[in-house]
Amino acid sequence: MSDIKSAIQRLARERDALVLAHNYQPDAVQEIADVVGDSLALAVHAASTDKKVIVLCGVYFMAETAAILSPQKTVLLPRREAGCPLADTATPERIREMRARYPQAPVVLYVNSSAAAKAESDICCTSANALRVVQSLPEQEVILAPDRNLGAYIAARTDKTCHLWDGCCPIHDSVAAEAVRKALEQHPDAVSLAHPECRTDVLRQVQHIFSTSGMLDFVAKSSARKFVVVTERGILCQLRRANPEKEFIFPESPLLCRNMKLTSPEDVLRALETMEPVVTVPEKVRRQAQGALERMLAVPRD
Ligand code: 13P
Repeated sequence: MSDIKSAIQRLARERDALVLAHNYQPDAVQEIADVVGDSLALAVHAASTDKKVIVLCGVYFMAETAAILSPQKTVLLPRREAGCPLADTATPERIREMRARYPQAPVVLYVNSSAAAKAESDICCTSANALRVVQSLPEQEVILAPDRNLGAYIAARTDKTCHLWDGCCPIHDSVAAEAVRKALEQHPDAVSLAHPECRTDVLRQVQHIFSTSGMLDFVAKSSARKFVVVTERGILCQLRRANPEKEFIFPESPLLCRNMKLTSPEDVLRALETMEPVVTVPEKVRRQAQGALERMLAVPRD
């Protein structure tokens, strides 16, 4: 084991800390984490762990989600500046405006959003459970925010009226349909997978649409040997680790999230040494946002 990994593990034990990492984190960070997962898995672990400290290797909204669900714990985000441009688009004011326009429709808010925005919403969702969350609601009309591509993906699979927001993940939204077409043409024997944050013209071309953990589960169970994968490249670490005999092809597209790549194992070690930067959420906002997250976590899983 590398020196830094054993130093992190020793200090994590002393601090009673759990190190969580998102599937898009750099390989070196995924290697030192206790749990690697998608947004839903990270939220579930943050809510259920009995550790005193959570080190969230991901972006700001993920650390806020952990702080909302586990207020008695210390939540550390090793690089405080790791943000999410999609989350920044959903301001509480814009959510209130949308609600005023469609007062009969509950706000289903993607977890890629700030705590203040979550506090204005009725229920959260992730890419792993968005359709189940929408179907669980009694209302026939919903507001889906802030990702228009995820929104369109859901709208096409429900008979409810969906009011969409105009935000997007710049990484997934920039994947060109032509680049995917080329990859599929060059690898006709590959099974194709894409994240629902991709544009509709990309999603239309692939065989399966999954969250990051959904992709990992699918590939592990599949008897296919080759996959065209359309999501951020960090997922390759877990794909290769679990399926060394399988081949993964990405379309010609940057598919790299700068914010997700900020954190290093050295940052994780420093965060555990200094117990900073701590992410907190003002109590009134936290309590309201907690309601939306807990309603999501209460929706039965498959
Ligand atoms: P997942 O929930 O599928 O891991 O996606 C998170 C994300 O931020 C995608 O850009």
